[in-house]
Amino acid sequence: MPDTLLPIPTTDHFSVVRLTRAWYVVALSSELGSKPLGRTLLGVPLVLFRDSEGQASALLDRCAHRNVPLTEGRVVGDRLECGYHGWQFDGGGACRKIPGLCADRSGEQPGQSVPCYATREQDGLIWVYGEADERPATEPYALPVVGEEGYTTVRRVVEVEASLHATLENALDVPHTAFLHRGLFRGSGVTNTIRAVVTRTRDSVQAEYLDEPRPTGVAARLLAPGGGTVTHFDRFLMPSIAQVEYRLGHSSHFLVTSCCTPVHDFRTRIHAVISFKLGLPGWLVRPILTPIAMQIFRQDARVLRLQSDAVRRFGGERFSSTEIDVLGQQIWRLLRREEKGHEVQDEDWRREIVLEV
Ligand code: FES
Ligand SMILES: [Fe+2]
Repeated sequence: MPDTLLPIPTTDHFSVVRLTRAWYVVALSSELGSKPLGRTLLGVPLVLFRDSEGQASALLDRCAHRNVPLTEGRVVGDRLECGYHGWQFDGGGACRKIPGLCADRSGEQPGQSVPCYATREQDGLIWVYGEADERPATEPYALPVVGEEGYTTVRRVVEVEASLHATLENALDVPHTAFLHRGLFRGSGVTNTIRAVVTRTRDSVQAEYLDEPRPTGVAARLLAPGGGTVTHFDRFLMPSIAQVEYRLGHSSHFLVTSCCTPVHDFRTRIHAVISFKLGLPGWLVRPILTPIAMQIFRQDARVLRLQSDAVRRFGGERFSSTEIDVLGQQIWRLLRREEKGHEVQDEDWRREIVLEV
């Protein structure tokens, strides 16, 4: 059996990957105002705040003095002030003021600073690097088409009781749509045989569906009111992005980028950025599409929670897979490989699969 077809390893413990040397979305820009905001990333409590210039920073949510959460404090100018004794920290985590202490605080004092996490703000999202006090070698993913003329962009935040891997697989998994979302997206009785070309690189895996007729559900009718052939891509970008892209003809384009953030091992926060340019005006499509998307999401959230419960109840995953589960398997492989720091990379590859939906 070729290496790339190996199933997800069956272990006696949970299959969870924790990659700290990576960027994750922790909040929408609009969620961070003038007050400190608490977020958890990979089980680590963080506090976000904006300085007087609007620059966002992320620190460990634990005061260096007596460990009170800094989310209980307030922003004073460019600093975050602890609510207990008023120690003030700058955006880099250095302590700049200790009320009542006469000594000079202009220099950084060892042991009195708070771990700091590199932060970037772009495309209406706040990204944090998962390793404290490190200068990242990479920059966060720049979202395509956001802000481009003719596109409407909607952002939504939801949470699921599921591991990062299970959440990513669900977002890109085509075979479940005809069952779990019957009638909403696919599965109105007509099945189609479609081909998909799956390509994998060292940090991505993508399925391109060829000659796919427009699916028959309500959501699909809105995406492509005129019918016709749809170009459809599902792609995973290491380590946290699931992206679904539909194109119809030259004018209609629909792109959902789900930036998935591991809050805890079995809790994932999804920052979905939905950008579309359709034959119908955005203001008309949005109120129709939003409730359908939320219903699809509730169905996914429920099945993911049931899956997580079963995995935990039985003490770990025991999955079996076929070739049409190829994306989920490859997502797992890429995440696991990165976590283990494998020097040897698989060759890039390309494979064709056929499925009925
Ligand atoms: S606990 Fe924060 S200043 Fe004392
Ligand atoms: Fe789904």
